[in-house]
Amino acid sequence: MKAAIITSSDKGYAGEREDKSGPVIKEMLTGAGYEVVEAVVLPDEKTILAEKMLFYCNQNVDLVLTTGGTGFSKRDVTPEATRMVIEREACGITQAMLYHSLSITPRAMLTRAIAGIRGNTLIVNMPGSPKAVREDLEYILPSLEHGLEILKGTAAECARPD
Ligand code: MTE
Repeated sequence: MKAAIITSSDKGYAGEREDKSGPVIKEMLTGAGYEVVEAVVLPDEKTILAEKMLFYCNQNVDLVLTTGGTGFSKRDVTPEATRMVIEREACGITQAMLYHSLSITPRAMLTRAIAGIRGNTLIVNMPGSPKAVREDLEYILPSLEHGLEILKGTAAECARPD
Protein backbone atom coordinates (compact mmCIF):
# COMPACT_ATOMS: atom_id res chain seq x y z
CA MET A 1 0.00 0.00 0.00
CA LYS A 2 1.18 3.50 -0.85
CA ALA A 3 0.76 6.34 1.65
CA ALA A 4 1.41 10.09 1.73
CA ILE A 5 1.63 12.45 4.69
CA ILE A 6 0.60 16.10 4.79
CA THR A 7 1.59 18.23 7.77
CA SER A 8 -0.53 21.37 7.94
CA SER A 9 1.41 24.05 9.78
CA ASP A 10 2.15 27.70 8.97
CA LYS A 11 5.15 27.65 11.32
CA GLY A 12 6.43 24.33 10.00
CA TYR A 13 6.13 25.60 6.42
CA ALA A 14 8.00 28.81 7.31
CA GLY A 15 10.78 26.78 8.96
CA GLU A 16 9.98 28.33 12.36
CA ARG A 17 8.96 25.03 13.95
CA GLU A 18 10.21 21.49 13.44
CA ASP A 19 7.57 19.08 12.14
CA LYS A 20 7.57 16.29 14.72
CA SER A 21 4.25 14.57 13.97
CA GLY A 22 4.90 13.93 10.25
CA PRO A 23 8.01 11.84 11.05
CA VAL A 24 6.07 9.88 13.72
CA ILE A 25 3.44 8.99 11.11
CA LYS A 26 6.15 8.04 8.62
CA GLU A 27 7.88 5.78 11.12
CA MET A 28 4.62 4.05 12.08
CA LEU A 29 3.41 3.60 8.50
CA THR A 30 6.77 2.25 7.35
CA GLY A 31 6.79 -0.13 10.32
CA ALA A 32 3.36 -1.37 9.26
CA GLY A 33 4.62 -2.11 5.74
CA TYR A 34 3.38 0.98 3.86
CA GLU A 35 5.48 2.67 1.21
CA VAL A 36 5.49 6.37 2.11
CA VAL A 37 5.73 8.06 -1.30
CA GLU A 38 5.92 11.61 0.05
CA ALA A 39 5.71 13.61 3.28
CA VAL A 40 5.15 17.35 2.85
CA VAL A 41 4.73 20.34 5.14
CA LEU A 42 2.20 22.87 3.84
CA PRO A 43 0.78 26.14 5.20
CA ASP A 44 -2.70 26.18 6.79
CA GLU A 45 -4.33 27.21 3.51
CA LYS A 46 -7.50 25.39 2.48
CA THR A 47 -6.91 25.47 -1.29
CA ILE A 48 -3.24 24.44 -1.08
CA LEU A 49 -4.09 21.53 1.23
CA ALA A 50 -7.02 20.41 -0.93
CA GLU A 51 -4.95 20.57 -4.13
CA LYS A 52 -2.27 18.34 -2.61
CA MET A 53 -4.87 15.84 -1.38
CA LEU A 54 -6.42 15.80 -4.86
CA PHE A 55 -2.99 15.21 -6.41
CA TYR A 56 -2.46 12.11 -4.24
CA CYS A 57 -5.96 10.83 -5.08
CA ASN A 58 -5.22 11.23 -8.79
CA GLN A 59 -1.95 9.33 -8.26
CA ASN A 60 -3.97 6.47 -6.67
CA VAL A 61 -2.14 6.76 -3.36
CA ASP A 62 -4.04 4.38 -1.05
CA LEU A 63 -3.83 6.36 2.17
CA VAL A 64 -3.32 10.07 2.85
CA LEU A 65 -2.79 11.01 6.50
CA THR A 66 -2.85 14.66 7.44
CA THR A 67 -1.58 16.02 10.74
CA GLY A 68 -2.47 19.36 12.30
CA GLY A 69 -5.05 21.99 11.57
CA THR A 70 -7.96 20.10 13.11
CA GLY A 71 -8.44 22.29 16.18
CA PHE A 72 -10.26 25.55 16.91
CA SER A 73 -7.60 28.06 15.87
CA LYS A 74 -8.81 30.40 13.12
CA ARG A 75 -6.07 29.02 10.84
CA ASP A 76 -7.11 25.37 11.41
CA VAL A 77 -8.71 24.42 8.09
CA THR A 78 -7.61 20.84 7.39
CA PRO A 79 -11.14 19.35 7.81
CA GLU A 80 -12.57 22.01 5.47
CA ALA A 81 -9.88 21.23 2.86
CA THR A 82 -10.57 17.50 3.22
CA ARG A 83 -14.30 18.06 2.77
CA MET A 84 -13.59 19.77 -0.58
CA VAL A 85 -11.93 16.56 -1.82
CA ILE A 86 -13.73 13.53 -0.40
CA GLU A 87 -16.76 11.93 -2.05
CA ARG A 88 -17.81 9.66 0.84
CA GLU A 89 -17.25 10.31 4.53
CA ALA A 90 -15.81 7.53 6.75
CA CYS A 91 -17.05 8.74 10.14
CA GLY A 92 -16.27 5.47 11.93
CA ILE A 93 -12.55 6.15 11.74
CA THR A 94 -12.75 9.58 13.37
CA GLN A 95 -15.28 8.29 15.91
CA ALA A 96 -12.86 5.47 16.80
CA MET A 97 -10.02 7.97 17.28
CA LEU A 98 -12.26 10.13 19.45
CA TYR A 99 -13.46 7.17 21.53
CA HIS A 100 -9.88 6.08 22.14
CA SER A 101 -8.52 9.59 22.70
CA LEU A 102 -11.23 10.53 25.20
CA SER A 103 -9.94 7.74 27.45
CA ILE A 104 -6.61 9.63 27.45
CA THR A 105 -7.72 13.28 27.60
CA PRO A 106 -11.10 15.04 27.59
CA ARG A 107 -9.47 17.67 25.35
CA ALA A 108 -9.74 15.17 22.52
CA MET A 109 -13.29 16.51 22.14
CA LEU A 110 -11.71 19.63 20.65
CA THR A 111 -10.70 17.89 17.43
CA ARG A 112 -12.73 18.57 14.27
CA ALA A 113 -10.99 15.81 12.28
CA ILE A 114 -12.82 14.07 9.45
CA ALA A 115 -12.03 11.07 7.24
CA GLY A 116 -13.32 10.09 3.85
CA ILE A 117 -12.81 8.42 0.50
CA ARG A 118 -12.23 9.80 -2.97
CA GLY A 119 -11.90 7.17 -5.67
CA ASN A 120 -9.31 4.65 -4.47
CA THR A 121 -7.89 6.89 -1.74
CA LEU A 122 -8.71 7.14 1.95
CA ILE A 123 -7.91 10.46 3.64
CA VAL A 124 -7.75 10.67 7.44
CA ASN A 125 -7.15 13.83 9.49
CA MET A 126 -5.00 13.28 12.56
CA PRO A 127 -4.29 15.74 15.39
CA GLY A 128 -1.21 17.97 15.35
CA SER A 129 0.88 16.73 18.26
CA PRO A 130 3.27 13.77 17.91
CA LYS A 131 1.86 12.28 21.14
CA ALA A 132 -1.72 12.40 19.88
CA VAL A 133 -0.73 11.08 16.46
CA ARG A 134 1.00 8.08 18.02
CA GLU A 135 -1.93 7.33 20.31
CA ASP A 136 -4.49 7.58 17.52
CA LEU A 137 -2.53 5.77 14.84
CA GLU A 138 -1.71 2.85 17.15
CA TYR A 139 -5.43 2.40 17.64
CA ILE A 140 -6.68 2.72 14.04
CA LEU A 141 -3.80 1.37 11.93
CA PRO A 142 -4.62 -2.36 12.28
CA SER A 143 -8.19 -1.78 11.02
CA LEU A 144 -7.26 0.72 8.28
CA GLU A 145 -5.50 -1.98 6.31
CA HIS A 146 -8.69 -4.06 6.12
CA GLY A 147 -10.67 -1.00 5.03
CA LEU A 148 -8.16 -0.26 2.27
CA GLU A 149 -8.34 -3.86 1.06
CA ILE A 150 -12.13 -3.59 0.88
CA LEU A 151 -11.74 -0.33 -1.07
CA LYS A 152 -9.35 -2.02 -3.51
CA GLY A 153 -11.58 -5.10 -3.75
CA THR A 154 -8.81 -7.38 -2.51
CA ALA A 155 -10.12 -8.12 0.99
CA ALA A 156 -10.68 -11.65 2.17
CA GLU A 157 -14.16 -12.22 3.59
CA CYS A 158 -14.74 -10.42 6.89
CA ALA A 159 -13.97 -12.93 9.61
CA ARG A 160 -15.29 -12.35 13.11
CA PRO A 161 -12.29 -11.95 15.41
CA ASP A 162 -13.86 -14.20 18.10
N1 MTE B 1 -5.89 13.02 20.93
C1 MTE B 1 -5.07 12.24 21.64
N2 MTE B 1 -5.10 10.93 21.42
N3 MTE B 1 -4.19 12.75 22.53
C2 MTE B 1 -4.12 14.10 22.76
O1 MTE B 1 -3.27 14.51 23.60
N4 MTE B 1 -4.99 16.34 22.15
C3 MTE B 1 -6.19 17.07 21.76
C4 MTE B 1 -6.94 16.53 20.56
N5 MTE B 1 -6.73 15.12 20.35
C5 MTE B 1 -5.00 14.97 22.02
C6 MTE B 1 -5.89 14.36 21.09
C7 MTE B 1 -6.11 18.52 21.71
S1 MTE B 1 -5.42 19.27 23.09
C8 MTE B 1 -6.65 19.28 20.70
S2 MTE B 1 -6.73 20.96 20.82
C9 MTE B 1 -7.24 18.61 19.49
O2 MTE B 1 -6.82 17.25 19.39
C10 MTE B 1 -6.93 19.29 18.15
O3 MTE B 1 -5.59 19.06 17.80
P1 MTE B 1 -4.77 19.88 16.67
O4 MTE B 1 -5.16 21.31 16.76
O5 MTE B 1 -3.35 19.62 17.06
O6 MTE B 1 -5.08 19.27 15.34
